[in-house]
Amino acid sequence: MSYHSYQIRSREQYDLAYKKSIEDPEGFWADVASNFQWQRRWEKTLEWNFEEPKVRWFSGGQLNITENCLDRHLAERGDQPAIVWEPNNPEEDYRVLSYKELHFKVCQFANVLKNNGLKKGDRVCIYMPMIPELAIAVLACARIGVIHSVVFGGFSAQSIADRIQDAQCCLVITADGAHRGNKEIPLKAVIDDALVQCPSVRKVIVLTRTRVPVSMIKGRDSWWEDEIRKVETQGNPACTAEVMDAEDMLFILYTSGSTGKPKGVVHTCGGYMVFTNYSFVNVFQYQPGDVYFCTADIGWITGHSYIVYGPLSAGATTLMFEGIPTWPDAGRFWEIVDKFKVNILYTAPTAIRSLMGFGLDFVKNKDLSSLRVLGTVGEPINEEAWHWYDENIGKGRCPIVDTWWQTETGGILISNLAGITPAKPAHATLPLPGVQPILVDEKGEELKGNSISGNLCIKFPWPSIIRTTYGDHERCRQAYFATYPGLYFTGDGALRDEEGNYRITGRVDDVLNVSGHRIGTAEVENAINMHTGVVESAVVGYPHEIKGQGIYAYVVYNGGSHEMSLVSKDVVQTVSRIIGPIAKPDKIQFVSGLPKTRSGKIMRRILRKIAEGELENLGDTSTLLDPAVVEEIKKGKL
Ligand code: WT7
Repeated sequence: MSYHSYQIRSREQYDLAYKKSIEDPEGFWADVASNFQWQRRWEKTLEWNFEEPKVRWFSGGQLNITENCLDRHLAERGDQPAIVWEPNNPEEDYRVLSYKELHFKVCQFANVLKNNGLKKGDRVCIYMPMIPELAIAVLACARIGVIHSVVFGGFSAQSIADRIQDAQCCLVITADGAHRGNKEIPLKAVIDDALVQCPSVRKVIVLTRTRVPVSMIKGRDSWWEDEIRKVETQGNPACTAEVMDAEDMLFILYTSGSTGKPKGVVHTCGGYMVFTNYSFVNVFQYQPGDVYFCTADIGWITGHSYIVYGPLSAGATTLMFEGIPTWPDAGRFWEIVDKFKVNILYTAPTAIRSLMGFGLDFVKNKDLSSLRVLGTVGEPINEEAWHWYDENIGKGRCPIVDTWWQTETGGILISNLAGITPAKPAHATLPLPGVQPILVDEKGEELKGNSISGNLCIKFPWPSIIRTTYGDHERCRQAYFATYPGLYFTGDGALRDEEGNYRITGRVDDVLNVSGHRIGTAEVENAINMHTGVVESAVVGYPHEIKGQGIYAYVVYNGGSHEMSLVSKDVVQTVSRIIGPIAKPDKIQFVSGLPKTRSGKIMRRILRKIAEGELENLGDTSTLLDPAVVEEIKKGKL
């Protein structure tokens, strides 16, 4: 007997569940949702149209996601580890928080937020290292109905400011600094720079982590530890969970698109909870007592859904790691697996490829026999990396789940179920129950049958689909629902093999996937163009052995005669300043002009081909304003 009644345990059960989910989606999801703790049952399971778009799951239902992640586990597994935390430095002590302790700390910090005047619907920006207090801060917001916007620690002050302004956050939760490998990131100093542009923020709460000196602004900044002491003296450690409607906002998470500034993807309480839990339990085949380790950062959707909400709502033990895979050496992941007897490991292809490069010495002396399930996420996994992972980490006996999804989908949509449905290297394989993918051609015509490739769309809502982009619903419609009317468009290309397995081939829009991080080419171009001396630029992706995609920038410069290698460094610095180190171009080629059509449109197709090293067969160049430019660019290729 498995402990989640809706856990699929055989291929037959998958087929049945899938069939039911298509024939009667409302009945299917109502059954799943009945397993959660609702303060009031919903009235209407689903209302939707993809034209506005409008999607409402479980409307009329009331709940608090933290009661499902914490309170409801207390009776049966209050003393079980909820979070196991491994610090950056292996010499430092690890920490274990039981469900009871996590519940206590979440309530305590929720009271801190209340003391600071926060109430349901307010927005809070969280910019923290990967330490348990980050999960506590996230859950404390959810406890009182405050909408969290977590910003990854690798983003710059400008990126944070943009996100804070867009969401009009009134409070920021951060730490003095963060440890990442042998580096220290001055989080609080970055926040100070960001807040110069953010009048909406009236309060900053700062956790002590690295003890780097920080400046605390009177009336605005206070220490996490002092705030906790204040609530301790108030005496009441409890914090009643705010009653939330199923469709009330849970969080905003910013992500890059093909145009303009990042969009604030909005997820709501009920559907997101049901789907992250359902997908977690089924894809990873979590069993009671398992130790589950997802190596992502909570600053990304993977961390939201599969470090915090999915696992905790399922009563799992979730392992959080503060550091990086290669410090103190490239055996760190395997050491953690050995140390905590990890059963399920979920990581990114880029990490696998990078660790592959360090050779097997770092794997050899580690006991990996506890592993039962492996997973990947974030980008297509190449067959070589898949086999390395399978043979050297899984020792040929652990199913690998290749999980395809997006910030906007909230949870995993296409993946094999570990040990239940078959894996196929480099294929995400089959849709989860409730997910109806289709492939379409350029005109939006559905491509039926197998052995076919096209643009990947989803034709029916699942419970954790994006609801809106914060403050701009029209942008949500434009970006996801306008390309192919009546469909959610993923932005990915895919092929469907002879057996109906999906293989995601990558983005078909101007979005790059660098080390599993999503970066818009337009964003990088805007940052490059901020550099004085830069006239214009065009950014494309190219295949990169470890990162999956690298960033190739063509830059038109007229800032006078300088040593161009220095200018190049300056341009990289500028991007790092404006967006963050994750968006730094790998290659910068200075050119005298960009290939443009007579109407002034940059022909990216040509630039992409050249960056990929394909200098012949550039396709039709007859519409170019100045074909000579292409010859020059080809000669100067890096
Ligand atoms: C994009 C979404 C989903 C959490 C991490 C990234 C690519 C994601 C896979 C996979 C091939 C994948 C897609 C997608 N992607 N998973 N298993 N196979 N590609 O979230 O930042 O929203 O990026 O990542 O291109 O559109 P994200």
